[in-house]
Amino acid sequence: MVPSVLEVSRERAWETLTRYTKSEALLRHALAVEASVRAYARKFGEDEELWGVTALLHDFDYELHPTLDKHPQDGAPILREEGYPEVVIEGVLSHAEHLQMPRDTMLKKTLFACDELSGFVHACGLVRPAGLDGLEPKSVKKKLKQPSFAAGVHRDEVYAGAELLGLELDEHIANVVAALQPISKELGLRTAADAA
Ligand SMILES: [Fe+2]
Ligand SMILES: [Fe+2]
Repeated sequence: MVPSVLEVSRERAWETLTRYTKSEALLRHALAVEASVRAYARKFGEDEELWGVTALLHDFDYELHPTLDKHPQDGAPILREEGYPEVVIEGVLSHAEHLQMPRDTMLKKTLFACDELSGFVHACGLVRPAGLDGLEPKSVKKKLKQPSFAAGVHRDEVYAGAELLGLELDEHIANVVAALQPISKELGLRTAADAA
């Protein structure tokens, strides 16, 4: 039986995500990547809801499948069963380096470019009294060169992501910082107002 393709909506994606994901850190990661990808969808004049849903769901199965022999490939059939369209499923699959899928659409390029960098910028914000307020690309780049800081973030993927979007790293960082600022509270970040 072919499941009917459902209407892509943020509400539905959030419901799917939170059914499979309980960890606050993972939910915050999903929200951060979503905000960055949405900002680029607006910038590029693309379908913000579709891009946001794909970003929100990209790691939805990580608690269920925390190893690369299962994540995200074993999550894909679940999304298919839930009725998500192939464009979402392909986007989700393409974020994983080990699957070596071509990043042949702007959505795939953008998701890849935002995944690691959103996590890194989030980490930078967490160690600053004012969070992301006043965070300059220069200091993010400095931290990228310190291997011990947010050691889990793959630096090579951050650099490759900016290149894939055809952006200078400074510009890409500034875009991600600006995208995350409005959701500082949801990300557990302080702001300049707290630091004052
Ligand atoms: Fe992932
Ligand atoms: Fe991710």
